[in-house]
Amino acid sequence: MSIILKTPQQVEKMRVAGRLAADVLEMLTPLVQPGVTTEELNQKAHDYMTQVQGTVPATLGYHGFTKSICTSINQVVCHGIPSDKKLKKGDIINIDVTVIKDGFHGDTSMMFEVGKVAPFASRLCRIAHECLWKGIQQVKPSATLYDVALAIEQHAHANDCSVVKEYCGHGIGADFHEEPQVLHYSSQEQKQVVLKPGMTFTIEPMINLGRPEVKLLGDGWTVVTKDRTLSAQWEHTLLVTETGYEVFTLRTGEKPLL
Ligand code: MF3
Ligand code: CO
Ligand code: CO
Repeated sequence: MSIILKTPQQVEKMRVAGRLAADVLEMLTPLVQPGVTTEELNQKAHDYMTQVQGTVPATLGYHGFTKSICTSINQVVCHGIPSDKKLKKGDIINIDVTVIKDGFHGDTSMMFEVGKVAPFASRLCRIAHECLWKGIQQVKPSATLYDVALAIEQHAHANDCSVVKEYCGHGIGADFHEEPQVLHYSSQEQKQVVLKPGMTFTIEPMINLGRPEVKLLGDGWTVVTKDRTLSAQWEHTLLVTETGYEVFTLRTGEKPLL
């Protein structure tokens, strides 16, 4: 097992897949409103992927997951299952989209604020987004995944937030989850992972307002904060270039906001 460096031809396919994953989030954006169910969002995303884009929803059937997106509301950390539950004003929700196009994956997620949300909820979403970009900005040849993790962790802690340890980013390409694991907290072994041009991986920090511990619900998928405080996550798929990084899943008008 080792980290797969992508050829220029494979990089071009990942660029296409990444753009298409971002397009799904852009398509969903106006639909994320009070009263919509997460299953309706799932259905819209599924139809757009399969009928408009000609992409395959990577989560559908993945280890038995039965939906085409993940929808994680409020205290849900990740892998929320779309259902007939309606979004309500004040909710925060992460929507995570992974498409396969021409054999390659694009994986991205973002937070949405449903109607007007409490200032502390909005702030958590902003800090989690900043954590993602603090991590991304460390990416360049000869930096290590430790640098990425440390930048994320320091920004979270400086803002009195915690970092989830049980779930991480990942290499990505022809497979959904490849080596390396991309931890979002500092851990000495991440110093061994030296970045090289052609590596492709995700960064996807899960940031909690309260304690970092999580719990898996009885459905076998839904991960919640143990203390039931809010959690927020943003994810991009990126490439290590000769001089730094290229984000494959950038959305139109997305600002790093640092
Ligand atoms: N998209 C998630 C990730 O960022 C994985 C979801 S797997 C699922 O890695 F099965 F829960 F959909
Ligand atoms: Co991912
Ligand atoms: Co994802």
